Amino acid sequence: MKESILEYLKENDDKYISGEYLSNIFNVSRAAIWKVMKRLEGEGYIIESKTKVGYKLISLPDTLHPYEIKSSLDTKRIGKTIHYFEEISSTNDYAKKLAQNAFEDGEVIIAGTQKSGRGRFSREWISPPNKGIYISLLLKPQISFENITQLTLFTALAICNALEEYVGINLEIKWPNDILLNSKKICGILTEISGEVDKINHVIIGFGINVNFDKVDFDDTLKNKATSLKIETSKTQDRKKIIQHILTVFDKYYEDYLNGENFENILKQYKSKMTIIEKNIVISIHNNTPASGTVIDITNSGALKIKMSDGSVKEFLSGEISL
Ligand code: BTN
Repeated sequence: MKESILEYLKENDDKYISGEYLSNIFNVSRAAIWKVMKRLEGEGYIIESKTKVGYKLISLPDTLHPYEIKSSLDTKRIGKTIHYFEEISSTNDYAKKLAQNAFEDGEVIIAGTQKSGRGRFSREWISPPNKGIYISLLLKPQISFENITQLTLFTALAICNALEEYVGINLEIKWPNDILLNSKKICGILTEISGEVDKINHVIIGFGINVNFDKVDFDDTLKNKATSLKIETSKTQDRKKIIQHILTVFDKYYEDYLNGENFENILKQYKSKMTIIEKNIVISIHNNTPASGTVIDITNSGALKIKMSDGSVKEFLSGEISL
């Protein structure tokens, strides 16, 4: 009922609506209406109430409650179920728990903050409360293990395209899936897979976007490497709208991908966002000694093709590159 009342208040936010009128439409007592208003206020909605006149919605909170995200979310598969936590250890960890039981393809987990947010290579992912986007998608695509890199590549492209379009900025993708703004990282993606050789049980795609971080939110090790949309655009950005936009674009790419749409077009777009083709780079893979070479291309399966300094040509499906 709370959500329906909220929708009604939103549709009529230009006027006061009396408690009696609301209690008639929703067929509950005026005391029940009053309780809903108190609950909404507790969630950060500003509602003006005037004796003998009624209630008026003044403003929405800057939180990411599922019903806020879902209202006007036009997707086929992604975000039909959204789990929201004001605070959680890690959205990827929660997705892993969900995957132990039956789940729908495309469930979404969103957090206001994460106490143990994780990045690639077991790094910490800082998650200041209500300043960033911390989100995981729980998927069960019918694809083979070899195609997972493609999935991570088009996730990066979907986020990149959605952000460019919505925020009006130019972004760069650092293979495989870091997104950079003015050469500093604003988004990282952590893909975790479970399955057997020939069958994938689930894929968790977790991404973190530094949306409204201030400079003080980055520690000394990150200050020169990372930035936020707010810092670069000098404007507080709407996290809810950004999430809606990303989920919509991702949903489309995911549908096309599952329907066997050719990956070539995605790859072409992805390459156009990369700036390291023909550049000399160093690639590190876990505990191995870093190796250097010149980037030749990205293969159709999403691997980075490098001409190594010893003249050999190698393909890497994962790793971390630096210039
Ligand atoms: C990276 O660049 O190292 C990947 C960072 C991924 C961070 C996100 S935030 C939401 C999700 N939950 C996590 O614990 N990590 C991912």
